[in-house]
Amino acid sequence: MCGIVGYIGTQQAAPILLDGLSKLEYRGYDSAGLAVRDGTAEPEIVKAKGRLKILSEKTNNGETMIGSCGIGHTRWATHGEPSEDNAHPHCTDDRSIIGVHNGIIDNYKELREKLVRKGYSFHSETDTEVAIKMVDYYLRKYNMGPIDAIVRTMVRVRGSYALAIMFKEYPDEIFVARKDSPMIIGVEEGETYIASDVPAILRYTRNVYYIGNNEIGRLGAGCAKFYNLDQEEIQKELTEIKWDAEAAEKGGFEHFMMKEIHEQPKAVQDTINAIIKDGRVSLEGISLTEEEILNLRDINIVACGSAYHVGITLQYVIEDLTRIPVRVELGSEFRYRKPILSDNTLVIVISQSGETADSLAALREAKELGAKTLGIVNVIGSSIAREADNVLYTLAGPEIAVATTKAYSTQLVAGYLLAIEFGRVRGNITEEQYQNFIADIQKLPRQIEGLLEEQERIQWFASKFSNAHDVFFIGRGVDYAICLEGSLKMKEISYVHSEAYAAGELKHGTISLIEDGTLVVGSLTQPDLFEKTISNMVEVKSRGAYLMGLTSYGNYSVEDTANFTVYVPRTDPHFANSLAIIPLQLMAYYISVAKGLDVDKPRNLAKSVTVE
Ligand code: AGP
Repeated sequence: MCGIVGYIGTQQAAPILLDGLSKLEYRGYDSAGLAVRDGTAEPEIVKAKGRLKILSEKTNNGETMIGSCGIGHTRWATHGEPSEDNAHPHCTDDRSIIGVHNGIIDNYKELREKLVRKGYSFHSETDTEVAIKMVDYYLRKYNMGPIDAIVRTMVRVRGSYALAIMFKEYPDEIFVARKDSPMIIGVEEGETYIASDVPAILRYTRNVYYIGNNEIGRLGAGCAKFYNLDQEEIQKELTEIKWDAEAAEKGGFEHFMMKEIHEQPKAVQDTINAIIKDGRVSLEGISLTEEEILNLRDINIVACGSAYHVGITLQYVIEDLTRIPVRVELGSEFRYRKPILSDNTLVIVISQSGETADSLAALREAKELGAKTLGIVNVIGSSIAREADNVLYTLAGPEIAVATTKAYSTQLVAGYLLAIEFGRVRGNITEEQYQNFIADIQKLPRQIEGLLEEQERIQWFASKFSNAHDVFFIGRGVDYAICLEGSLKMKEISYVHSEAYAAGELKHGTISLIEDGTLVVGSLTQPDLFEKTISNMVEVKSRGAYLMGLTSYGNYSVEDTANFTVYVPRTDPHFANSLAIIPLQLMAYYISVAKGLDVDKPRNLAKSVTVE
């Protein structure tokens, strides 16, 4: 959850590095730094605490740093507080080796102690400085060159890393190494680019190499060689990135989040179009045979954050349409739970970035235990996409805002279509039901579009509650899943404390927190559970709560109970989350804006949590 960049070519490196970092700030933004070298001259290193603009000001947008070879970093602090000393790049005391790192070295303490015993001193609290000095240690000890020193370090460290390292003796090259943290290498005529993610290099090149796990790269201007841990050269093909550049820009919206909320109709439509061919669900990217689908005994869905909330939704949908038992797990729990899986278990890993460390580790654990695996992933070529047995891509395009919206919506739709197809294959739904489900899903993009046209009403309501201290979301079944995501959006971008509760559970304790004026949002899109949830809303209203009802058009009786009601178009109850979440995304957005917060880059967060 940091961003790293690198450049070697014919142009001045610093402005290019700063531009790349500006596209990666969503990965971390508590400090930043650059190291630039002009041939054999002494390298210059500049670092700054705080947002990237402070580093830009310090270097006059990079103009003061001379050199055509350099690396850069924007940090989300893991080891050591946000400070200039802890900011990357880190280097040896003689600056002969300089590096940036995204990831976590788990055994950095023991390695640091080893190096101290060998006479090394340290100027930061970071694991990165330890890694760089380990490379130096092996370079001096074995004197076999950078690749050998890096390989020995990789064998010695435990953890995750995307490393970019400059060596004094190799002034026109950058060496990279990767394990579990994302990195791509872009190559054009005479220019080479390094980045943690596509948006950082898209304006310069679409031609990239994906460096694999436990691989090392030796990069020159316009050229790249790759090696494995045995230091054998690996041949790689260039891949062309299909994203369009402006998709990674704001497109006239004040924030990426609002742009991406408005992109949901298209993102959902594109995902539907990729999976429905000639009116039928086509699971081309999935090698599961009908026989394997028939033999499935259980499904585990594993994800984190909003993707986990998609999993909660899909648990209801998949179980109802296929009668396969579904268990939903947080990635961070699954990987340590010693899960009970079989070769008739399907583990579905849902991830926008495809790089979330806990989800990736869970995927590997599931494969180790012999389960079939399927990734629902947005970033093409990401680790989860490449390592899962099957992948169902969502076509949300680049999602820059830390708070996910369009990726979340596309994950829901991909999951619905998977459930429908599995239900059809297993004979749990009739052809008529199959057709009706598909027809309802095909309507969702337009229905989302319609909801976006009513955003002013949500904005008005949000402004009334921009000073709220607590917001509760209650619902049952799929409505509970809607509440989970609505609550997370509220917390992560407006910093308002919020809890999502299964409506029936509120009275078992949390109802004690309800006071006069506490905002409680009741989600009521599930006809069979409507009256039950209304009763729970009455319970909290009698204790002073201010009620917002969120329901489908036609359920006007809600207004007898709710103080304020938001209606969404009718759809099959299985798919209601796709519509009900839109007003909740907007409500969180407007409260955040009303509070003057940084909607796209909320404090303490990062877009892709690539560390444990
Ligand atoms: C959602 O708004 C958050 N940004 C976060 O919970 C996110 O969904 C989670 O970190 C999972 O990320 P992934 O989908 O890239 O795996």
